[in-house]
Amino acid sequence: MGETAPVSRYAIPAERLHGSVFDDRLLSMVFLNEIMARFPEAISFAPGAPHESLFEGVDVGRCVDRYAAYLRENGLSPDGVRSRLYQYGPSRGLVNDLVAEAVRRDERIDVGPDAVLLTVGAQEAIFLLLRVLHEAATDAVAVVEPTYPGLLGAARLLGLPVVGLGDDGAGPDPADLRELYQRTLKAGRRIRTLYLCPDFANPSGTQLSLERRKALLAEADRLDLLIIEDTAYRFTAAPGSAPPSMKALDDVGRVVQVGSFAKIAVPGARTGYLIADQRTDTGTTLAEHLATAKAALTINTAPIAQAVAGGLLLEHGGSIAELGRAKGELYRGNLRHLLAALRLHIGPPEGNAAGVRWNEPAGGFFVQMTLPIPADDALLYRSAREFGVLWTPMRAFYLGDDGEFRLRLSCSSLNPPQIDEGVVRLAKALSL
Ligand SMILES: Cc1ncc(COP(=O)(O)O)c(C=O)c1O
Repeated sequence: MGETAPVSRYAIPAERLHGSVFDDRLLSMVFLNEIMARFPEAISFAPGAPHESLFEGVDVGRCVDRYAAYLRENGLSPDGVRSRLYQYGPSRGLVNDLVAEAVRRDERIDVGPDAVLLTVGAQEAIFLLLRVLHEAATDAVAVVEPTYPGLLGAARLLGLPVVGLGDDGAGPDPADLRELYQRTLKAGRRIRTLYLCPDFANPSGTQLSLERRKALLAEADRLDLLIIEDTAYRFTAAPGSAPPSMKALDDVGRVVQVGSFAKIAVPGARTGYLIADQRTDTGTTLAEHLATAKAALTINTAPIAQAVAGGLLLEHGGSIAELGRAKGELYRGNLRHLLAALRLHIGPPEGNAAGVRWNEPAGGFFVQMTLPIPADDALLYRSAREFGVLWTPMRAFYLGDDGEFRLRLSCSSLNPPQIDEGVVRLAKALSL
């Protein structure tokens, strides 16, 4: 332990590796992790990770037992249950019935288990959708900038071009989507999908109105493209406040919904799902086609992890919304606290004397802030070393350089007193 391993004689020429591992934007997340490890005492507004107190109520053994009991109630023998949990499983997943029932109950999305695919986090669902719905040589995926870097990373791995739409705080404008589609087509590529996070996007915090959702759906239908709806932060909406999900509004078959158990259960279970009830002309659901691709990637999502998610769902009346309810309240409280502290210590959100401004989302984990100076790695390093506060530079959330002056603040993993102290430190770091 602690000894350096001997360096092998053969050094792999770096240019033989795929360019994605040297991609600036992918590497920026590595830098962020390094800096967090280097300044463990700093208050970090960087990670979009769940609050650790929420793990206290999760007993993995109890969840697995609950799911095993459910299987027995449904006629499986003890040997059958053991095999279901310990053996390789079907690529489409195990808890498809529970997820289909949950989205019916919570969202009035009426699909069968064959429209559900269980994935290794929402991230794998996104990767599979980008893979299966596009031909890298001729197609493109559209995103709303700033966008979730996990999507940009997946597209980079696949060599799939990404094109960006603006967001004026209300989300993308359907007319802009049409214009981008035409422009991309003229440049020789067809947009096949639009990736959207309609409820409190990471990092913008934007939530789309009902009208905007309907208008985008109609436009997607006109342009013959699919919308990938990521619902990772939907559970943070105040009860009864969110418009229906885009999948619930979708009567033309244009939406594939992606969900994550990371923020409503535990990210350690690495479990997500997608709802893709569209059928190809062979009669097979898109979810089943995606399961074929998944078999070549991760074979199947760990059954034990799915049992944890399934057990938690059963403990919460089979409802994803119920599973996320208390957590959503905690995050709404944290976000309110962060917004109040920013007003108190930095000034009005529309711009203080130094020209620092930020948005005030109604949900989600994030606030985006614009500075009069570059929010780059050098400023982050200084901020950590001299002021003990960390945040995420937003360059990696953009396709071009538009994020240079922006940073993201996340309130999800902190307590209110840490948020207060962190904002005091941030105010000092930004008053240079
Ligand atoms: C918008 C969005 N989608 C998906 C994910 C990833 O979800 P999972 O952990 O289930 O892969 C994240 C994680 O931060 C996210 O912010």
